[in-house]
Amino acid sequence: MLVFENIPTLRAQIRNWRKYSETIAFVPTMGNLHQGHLDLISYAYQHATKVIVSIFVNPLQFAPHEDFGSYPRTLEKDMNQCNAAQVAGVFIPTESVLFPEGKADTTQIVPPETLNHILCAVTRPHFFSGVATIVCKLLNIVQPDVAVFGKKDYQQLTIISKLVKDLNLDVKILSAPISRADNGLALSSRNQYLTEEQLNQASCLSAVLQQTKVCLLEGHADLPNLCQKAIEQLNQNGFKMDYFEIRSQNNLQEVTPQDKNLIILAAGTLGKARLIDNLEVNLIA
Ligand code: PAF
Repeated sequence: MLVFENIPTLRAQIRNWRKYSETIAFVPTMGNLHQGHLDLISYAYQHATKVIVSIFVNPLQFAPHEDFGSYPRTLEKDMNQCNAAQVAGVFIPTESVLFPEGKADTTQIVPPETLNHILCAVTRPHFFSGVATIVCKLLNIVQPDVAVFGKKDYQQLTIISKLVKDLNLDVKILSAPISRADNGLALSSRNQYLTEEQLNQASCLSAVLQQTKVCLLEGHADLPNLCQKAIEQLNQNGFKMDYFEIRSQNNLQEVTPQDKNLIILAAGTLGKARLIDNLEVNLIA
């Protein structure tokens, strides 16, 4: 496995691979890899001959009161995992490689208001601009054929797909299914902030999503009421819910009567962890 710490060596290697008709899939991460990331890497290998993983804890997507300082950094273990997953190259830039003139002064990408003021952006208003900026930079650096993002971060995936379309970036965005623990909990680096007891409690989130999906499939049409009931149930089970909403899969806007492809999205805090999850629901037309 090759390790790249700067942009020119990474680009030179990618140019070289392309001469031999290799295709490139890119998996951006913030490290602290778990099975969910390894599943993204396997997914990436279904679509290209070389997989590049980046590991960079992006300061732009953390507010001052969030966990940037304490975000788990486990580079050596991450590299071993990438190596075992046959990753072709790992890109591990420092902040000065990505922001040579300082991050405070960098050009930022601002997602459209319709996506940047809803759901997770309500409590994390800076977040998606930080994500969009770093992802745009990484896509321009790597210039892969495809880039893989997990559906767990559905709003992030929607914003990145829109960014690629709106800014005419020459890359195909692939969305990989959510990886879950046996009890249904969506895998996330932040699950490690949970105690053993909270890990059990946390399964309630995916269970309530499933339950809501069944109600939708059975024809329940009072969406605000379904969401309110779900919030109450989750709050009774130890969560402090930020939101539980049903939206259009297509653009994350409010559901219209014509919408058949819905998504239920939820976010809330359990103990020290903020957990997010979602479930797609396709109603038969
Ligand atoms: O999903 C993540 O891990 C991050 O938001 C990403 C896409 C790597 C950008 O920092």
